[in-house]
Amino acid sequence: MTVAPAPSSVTPAGRLRGPLEPPGDKSIAHRALIIGALSGGPAEVAVRSPGEDVRSTASCLRELGVSVIEHVDGVLVRYALEGRPSREATVDCGNSGTTMRLLAGAVAGLPLRVTLDGDASLWARPMERVASLLRATGAEVTTTDGHAPMTVTGRERPLAVTHRLPVASAQLLGATALAALGADGETTVVSPGPTRDHTERMLAAAGVPVRRDGLVTTLRGPARPGALSMTVPGDVSSAAPWLVAGATHPDADITITGVGLNPTRTALVELLQRAGADLESTITDASGPEPIGDLRIRGGSALAEIRTAGAETSALIDELPLLGVLMAVTGGELRDASELRVKESDRIAAMVAGLRSIGASVEELPEGWRVSPGAPRAARITTHGDHRVAIAFAVAALAGVASAVELDDPACVAVSYPTFWSDLAEVAS
Ligand code: S3P
Repeated sequence: MTVAPAPSSVTPAGRLRGPLEPPGDKSIAHRALIIGALSGGPAEVAVRSPGEDVRSTASCLRELGVSVIEHVDGVLVRYALEGRPSREATVDCGNSGTTMRLLAGAVAGLPLRVTLDGDASLWARPMERVASLLRATGAEVTTTDGHAPMTVTGRERPLAVTHRLPVASAQLLGATALAALGADGETTVVSPGPTRDHTERMLAAAGVPVRRDGLVTTLRGPARPGALSMTVPGDVSSAAPWLVAGATHPDADITITGVGLNPTRTALVELLQRAGADLESTITDASGPEPIGDLRIRGGSALAEIRTAGAETSALIDELPLLGVLMAVTGGELRDASELRVKESDRIAAMVAGLRSIGASVEELPEGWRVSPGAPRAARITTHGDHRVAIAFAVAALAGVASAVELDDPACVAVSYPTFWSDLAEVAS
């Protein structure tokens, strides 16, 4: 894979052009790897330009005794999996909250004692929620004051229970569903709001009796997933930077191909269309568990002010930093997004500070922000090592929403998008 070095600063491009193909979807890749391991394999998961988070999941599975062999085939990395998790270990989840929570769930349904650790950003993230859900299945879970490192002692036959998730979180839903694979009977998971449904789709494709009805997911165990081999579709959250750049730049025409268009992930597409952007979405392959398609964005349309709140914020969760950049053009308000405070950084604080420094007027709300456009300025951005914050401000500069941006940690984009800087250079050329 081509990884261009990060530029020392990003400045507005004269025009933006595609096509491009984003890296494989990290939510889907984590699940494909973990489900592949729980099946015992042999399974093959092919991921385009996997980021550090996906690599963390693969290396944790190796630590747990699963054979995960990597074959590099151009930009595609093919992970060949064989064997189930069988080794007691301390695993390093790096920066990846999804790795930690999903693996905690998987281990809760196995007779293993595993300690899950990660980097300093992961130590700051809430783990008590997942711990208490898994305790209800009979697993022993200890955290470090509600955080990582966290030790999970699972059991062969966890209890089949009804879980009520404290927040709408696909990571929590995924953790409880993976634990439920070993349970004898029906596990029910009730979510307070909609979440991405990759765990359910992929387990169902692997032959597990799982069903989602509105906000209720049920899974009947014990059920070992069949060996599911797949090529992971492109990450719509990594298509999102180009959608926002294209919508806000006066001369843009970018086609993004091979993107996962699961309807629980396309809230930004719908929001941009609602705001008046010239954005086409076409499904090209609906044969697998996840629909795949192309997105084409053309710039120059007048965009309406953007307001979002309630369930839409969880559907937009990873796109909210980019939405802040969009609001610096359109004006708008974000509410009910308290989860944004417990992501890789406090993304409300990080975005409010960054948006002010590029010239927008921003009011910080406890669970969001209110933004009015201002004259674009040049700024040095503190990313807090957060990939989504770094990408959002690079896009702001590329599209002219900032007059120039220098990032304190441009390399952190590699967590989700290792080829981001090469793609940015390509789109701007
Ligand atoms: C993810 C779910 C989301 C998202 C994260 C990936 C997943 O978090 O922010 O990047 O793969 O399940 P929630 O657990 O808050 O939904």
